[in-house]
Amino acid sequence: MKEAFLLLTVITEEKTMEFKQQVVTALQQAIGAQLDARTIAKGIEIPKSSDLGDYAFPTFMLAKIFHKAPQKIAEEIVGKIDQQGFEKVQAVGAYVNFFLDKQSFSRDVLQTILVKGDSYGNANTGHGGNVPIDMSSPNIAKPMSMGHLRSTVIGNSLANILRKIGYNPIKINHLGDWGTQFGKLIVGYKKWGSEADVKADPITNLNKYYVRFHKEDVEHPELDDEAREWFKKLENGDPEAMHLWKWFREISLSEFSHIYDVLGIEFDSYKGEAFYNDKMDAVIQELEEKHLLEESQGAEVVNLDSYNLSPAMIRKSDGASLYMTRDLAAAIYRMNTYNFVQSLYVVGNEQALHFDQLKAVLKEMGDDWADNIHHIAFGLITSGGKKLSTRKGNVILLEGVLKDAVLLAQAQIEAKNPTLKNKDQVAKDVGVGAVVFHDLKNDRMDSFDFNLEEVVRFEGETGPYVQYTNARAQSILRKAAVEIDRDADDLTLTDPEAWNVLKALGDYPAAIERAAKEYEPSVIAKYTLRLAKAFNQYYAHSKILEANAERNARLALVDSVSRVLQNALALLGVNAPSEM
Ligand code: ARG
Repeated sequence: MKEAFLLLTVITEEKTMEFKQQVVTALQQAIGAQLDARTIAKGIEIPKSSDLGDYAFPTFMLAKIFHKAPQKIAEEIVGKIDQQGFEKVQAVGAYVNFFLDKQSFSRDVLQTILVKGDSYGNANTGHGGNVPIDMSSPNIAKPMSMGHLRSTVIGNSLANILRKIGYNPIKINHLGDWGTQFGKLIVGYKKWGSEADVKADPITNLNKYYVRFHKEDVEHPELDDEAREWFKKLENGDPEAMHLWKWFREISLSEFSHIYDVLGIEFDSYKGEAFYNDKMDAVIQELEEKHLLEESQGAEVVNLDSYNLSPAMIRKSDGASLYMTRDLAAAIYRMNTYNFVQSLYVVGNEQALHFDQLKAVLKEMGDDWADNIHHIAFGLITSGGKKLSTRKGNVILLEGVLKDAVLLAQAQIEAKNPTLKNKDQVAKDVGVGAVVFHDLKNDRMDSFDFNLEEVVRFEGETGPYVQYTNARAQSILRKAAVEIDRDADDLTLTDPEAWNVLKALGDYPAAIERAAKEYEPSVIAKYTLRLAKAFNQYYAHSKILEANAERNARLALVDSVSRVLQNALALLGVNAPSEM
């Protein structure tokens, strides 16, 4: 019994993954050695309309090779092709259109998902390789911005996606806990602050001092000298400066943890910038030994002309260390600690130059592994078309956004489903999930406007819509109240609405691979929308619970959709309540 079960798993697994491969193989046999399998695979398209099949191969690229018209080539390929395993293969103009065998596809996809459950879509692409992911990384004593939220949720989702295909992600919160701004903060605190105020509302008040500092130093430039002095003290380990710094760090971190708890996100490391204080000398020494440091107006820089980049500043004229110096030490530390196969930095696109310089300096030092460093950039979030900035104190406070989102979700649940159990938990899942989903559904480089009401809507391309679709599937399964027979031979649904759902289900593993390759959680978010839409169309057209021979297959479809939606939402870091 057990062996038969295992065998089934293996066979169905292979078949599902290989539907496109089946097309490639058939084409390869018909075309011959003139075109390699990779080129064929790249050429294969998914037709816009299902009348044109499930896959199509345009033959234009063969015209030169065979010195024939593409139409003629398409016909000849169809004449030669092994049609086994396809419903039909047709030439239409210059295209060879492949129609998959719906019955076997349907059975294979559903059996695979029901048998594999949460491991559907798993792969071993990463072979356990370490991938440190620098993510979130807010600055101590400043509010976490929407930009940090983007970094947090994109990084978390990438970690989930990479883990699913066999990498070992390491989530690092590279806290901004060092730098000249701490000099400013100490000056501000000592001039305008009090312990009681800071304790009452740490980040708000610390940020107030910082904002005020930047207002007042316009007319009182001597403030800047004081701030430099305090930062120097801090770098030299002055007890008062250290004490204040530690305290600011601790209370800020405990506020950040609040947000991480709400998001359900954990980190493997909180080694921030300060951790590298005693590791920078070695970097500077190495740069010196390799004759890479140049003097420029009293500061020390690495010339990067040959990379077409402006020089990277390593040490300021007053001897203070820099963001760049700490990042160099951190990059080297991560290589030595994790021997990574890739090292990711999920940071806004406005820091693109910084990461280009970081990689270039490492390359100059002879560290070829710098090629495996990737800046995972993302665009800005605007509000009413305006950029959000912490400096001016004009910032959307993240906790406020999440709280408001939960309230909006609560109101909708109250209106739709007032008798729902654990309403509070569901409202949290929906409200927070909505913000996270919205953030992830856009291509990460796109800038987008943030309008909370739209984000938390239950209709449209939103997280709640996908969650609601899963809850609908769950409710059907509860009503049916039967065990699905997943080994049944008749898990074959062939109506057009079911077919769209089945194809979306079959595409899940490929969506995961693509999301990982492009570092784009949006591929998964868009995938969930596609699957949810297809399923809702199916739902509108079919009497799922009607007792007839197809019922088991229909329920298998519903169950598979729910499992895949839950799994995909989990990759995004979004919970999927079973009722809402
Ligand atoms: N703290 C920085 C900021 O808020 C982001 C740090 C990104 N990580 C890094 N290794 N540089 O802008």
